[in-house]
Amino acid sequence: MQSEILPQTDKDRVIIQITDTHLMDKPDAEFVGINPEESFHAVMDDIQQRYKNIDLILHTGDLAQAAFPETYARYLEYMQRFGVDFYQIPGNHDNINLFPFHSPEPIPAVIELDQWRIILLNSAVGGRTDGNIQTEQLVHLKRLLEQLRDKFILIACHHNPFDMHSKWLDQHKLKNADELKAVLEPFDNIKAVLHGHVHQESYNLWNGIQFISTPATCVQFKPLSQEFSFDPIAPGYRCLHLKANGEFETSVHRLDHFKVTINEEISGY
Ligand SMILES: [Fe+2]
Repeated sequence: MQSEILPQTDKDRVIIQITDTHLMDKPDAEFVGINPEESFHAVMDDIQQRYKNIDLILHTGDLAQAAFPETYARYLEYMQRFGVDFYQIPGNHDNINLFPFHSPEPIPAVIELDQWRIILLNSAVGGRTDGNIQTEQLVHLKRLLEQLRDKFILIACHHNPFDMHSKWLDQHKLKNADELKAVLEPFDNIKAVLHGHVHQESYNLWNGIQFISTPATCVQFKPLSQEFSFDPIAPGYRCLHLKANGEFETSVHRLDHFKVTINEEISGY
């Protein structure tokens, strides 16, 4: 898990994870002292410069901070112009009723990429900051995993199933992580669970599955902080190279020339 650009072979599939764009309804509006539209576009420019053959871009939620129709419309229009297949799952700040899902709720969408399958879950619960994957969705997930035993699996949800050892943040984690783990436990072909929400990079290995989080495209949270705290490091994104043999490599990139000025008066999220 280095931060250099990974060498790509012809058989690799390349996916980019972006997360927590927190877009406002107006493109010039600020969120906690930075313009999330600007930092999101700077991230996308960096992706375009570094990676030429991207199979898809996956957004793991909190697409909107101001969850209005115009926010989602502007995002979709931008991504369509970007010209790479893209998918998104909702976060706690999103409006479930406006969110551009890829399959009718609560059925998880499944993306096919050679021998790989990426399963998109919704862990956002209307009106709540913490997460929950509803039972009906877990039943669908179990059935899917039984059908896909001969494939390599990636799963995406917004909320962190594991503690970040950060008291304020962990009260907002995926509350039924044990139920999710009980569904995943019998399968040995699940390679990773990708999530957002925590605005920082992290890795947890459980039962042969990597649980991976990725920096937000806007403000970052300070790792291991017991109280709410911003981290003045640059926004970023993640690249994953999926191999034909079921292995994968991943790295995080952060913007080189993006100065983050944080509004210190903000004391909560
Ligand atoms: Fe977020």
